[in-house]
Amino acid sequence: MNFDTIDTTVTALWRYDYDVNIKALRDLYEVAKREQWNAATDIPWEIETDPAQVGDMMNDPGVEPFDFVKALPTEKQIELAKKRSAHMLSNFLHGEQGAMMLCGQLVEVVPDMDGKLYASTQVIDEARHVEVFHRYIQRLDRIYPAMPGLTALINAVLTADLWQMKCIGMQVIAESIAMGSFKKMLEITGDEVLRKVFELTSQDEARHVSYGLIYMKDEIPKMNEPDRDRLEDFAWTAMTILATNGLMEEKQGKKWVDPLQQIYIDVGIDPEKANSEIVSRMSDPEALKAQPNPFRDHAYPQLERIGLITDRTRHKYQEVGLTD
Ligand SMILES: [Fe+2]
Ligand SMILES: [Fe+2]
Repeated sequence: MNFDTIDTTVTALWRYDYDVNIKALRDLYEVAKREQWNAATDIPWEIETDPAQVGDMMNDPGVEPFDFVKALPTEKQIELAKKRSAHMLSNFLHGEQGAMMLCGQLVEVVPDMDGKLYASTQVIDEARHVEVFHRYIQRLDRIYPAMPGLTALINAVLTADLWQMKCIGMQVIAESIAMGSFKKMLEITGDEVLRKVFELTSQDEARHVSYGLIYMKDEIPKMNEPDRDRLEDFAWTAMTILATNGLMEEKQGKKWVDPLQQIYIDVGIDPEKANSEIVSRMSDPEALKAQPNPFRDHAYPQLERIGLITDRTRHKYQEVGLTD
């Protein structure tokens, strides 16, 4: 058996008036029912995956491959891309499970019937995503463990005490990042099966972001000041938690062994050499600016739109390059 446990407590809210309260959410619920698809039959699983067509899901489109990759023979480059993609998609797989559990909580905690009905559709959406990623990764390699930052982010939303934090952390931040990442990965892959996986999951994730935006736009102005401040701070923590991967692991008292190191060794790359080239590219501010960044490009603008970036918090995002 392979599992972890965390304790969460939520305050379940019964609602006794069943009429429409937030019409935009009730409309979204109708859209969600109409757009259901079946992970078992709507993906062309009968098509075999050509490994050369998969691409490397950890790459950025239009960005020059690393020298340590270019130095490999073609068949090793394909092997590396498959393994790195399996590692990346494994993190999405674990993230989908986290989203499924979080939406189960939303059904309980959100105060409006429209919000509960809609969240119930997202539980099955995320179940489908778990199903498709689990099935697809097996075409590439094995399931890799979740990165500590990802686990920390999901545990933070699962244990958050305000329902608005759950909504911001998952629906606005994590879902926007997922949308941006799927869009990027769709540009990279030429595999028809994986393309269909991204197309159908993105369609769902777009709806999930809409739910967060519609709900929070309505809710934030109604919140009292101390809770609003806590929500703003929570958004900042959620945005930066993934970037502090190692720290998170130390906090949990475990030693994180980055699976990428073993992947490099398996295909004949010296991990030290690979790391130093990656670090040197990451420390070039101009190169970083030119690279897509789903936090900066997708999540931050949404936080700004719903009024969660204020004079109190803006400078923190500026300091780490998440906004100008
Ligand atoms: Fe999802
Ligand atoms: Fe989602």
